[in-house]
Amino acid sequence: MIILGIETSCDETAAAVVRDDRKVLAERLLSQAEAHRPYGGIVPEIAARAHLEHIDRLVAEAMDEAGLGFGQLDGVAATGGPGLIGGVIVGVMTGKAIAAVTGKPFLAINHLEGHALSARLVEDAAFPYLLLLVSGGHCQLLAVEGVGRYRRLGTTVDDAAGEAFDKCAKLLGLGYPGGAALEDAARAGNPKRFSLPRPLLGRPGCDFSFSGLKTAVRMAIESRLTGSAELDRQDVADLAASFQAAIADVLADRTAKALKTFRHHHADANTLVVAGGVAANRTLRHRLERVAGEAGFRFLAPPPRLCTDNAAMIAWAGVERLKLGLIDRLDFAPRPRWPLDPDAPAAIGAGVKA
Ligand code: KG4
Ligand code: ZN
Repeated sequence: MIILGIETSCDETAAAVVRDDRKVLAERLLSQAEAHRPYGGIVPEIAARAHLEHIDRLVAEAMDEAGLGFGQLDGVAATGGPGLIGGVIVGVMTGKAIAAVTGKPFLAINHLEGHALSARLVEDAAFPYLLLLVSGGHCQLLAVEGVGRYRRLGTTVDDAAGEAFDKCAKLLGLGYPGGAALEDAARAGNPKRFSLPRPLLGRPGCDFSFSGLKTAVRMAIESRLTGSAELDRQDVADLAASFQAAIADVLADRTAKALKTFRHHHADANTLVVAGGVAANRTLRHRLERVAGEAGFRFLAPPPRLCTDNAAMIAWAGVERLKLGLIDRLDFAPRPRWPLDPDAPAAIGAGVKA
């Protein structure tokens, strides 16, 4: 089974061809980070136009590299949401057009399901497993019970983890998007120099909160700035390291908590998976590995290129869904909001994020 995957929900335009034996036959990815950098965040209109400009070429290049014609595909998968609606429409229309012309099945993929199943593209990970999904737009703990079957155990009541990384990086002058740059800066830093809060640490439940942490970083910067004009390199490194340690503590604590609940419902499950852009962070990976080990769980983290947004995970989710006959109709409507667990109650104090 060979599936073409298309990803356009945020600021990466991507196409990939993936086979059901987990072979990625071709992959093309274009980051729009440069186009958005001057604005310090993603500008939806710029994103949509850039997706429109590049997606046809990237799809053609991926098909060329795979050495395949559209007629040789078994299906076309495109991210159908959640995400920035302009970009999602571009990807969905492209996928539908190819599916309509070739008569192949069309698969509308929930972007979060792409992240959730990404570990299975690299290793055997039997259902159910516990997933920590940490990206720029999402921060959730989910029991992954099967394809299309997710139960949310915890979510953020304010910012997503990646959003917190990005905001802190911006405060430290590390540019946008800042997660990876902050990790680099933290390497030379002392994580104990600044004592930052650990929101919700040790509290009941498995929800997250990060906005207090961001405020604490801003206050630490302001207090350093009295007297001198700007932060020196060591200040930046120490603040980055202190922030990273705090966020890793919170994520590890909440995940350890969720593992207990998860195990209660699934006595024979044994795997913890982390996915999403923030899962590329090495400090976090080490902390989670320890959390898993302490609970007697195996720890799985996809390689960093599969953690950040990409089309291979969308194609793979397409493989998983097509195997189960979960095909979508060509009148599928893009979904800017699309929770993986629609039945989950909103977190107390939660904003609009799913
Ligand atoms: O999954 P992703 O590519 O896009 C979304 O679906 O949101 O995640 C992007 C997020 C950004 O916030 C970025 O700063 C963060 O992942 N990120 C990292 C690292 N690499 C990317 N955060 C911490 N450490 C990293 N190495
Ligand atoms: Zn993502």
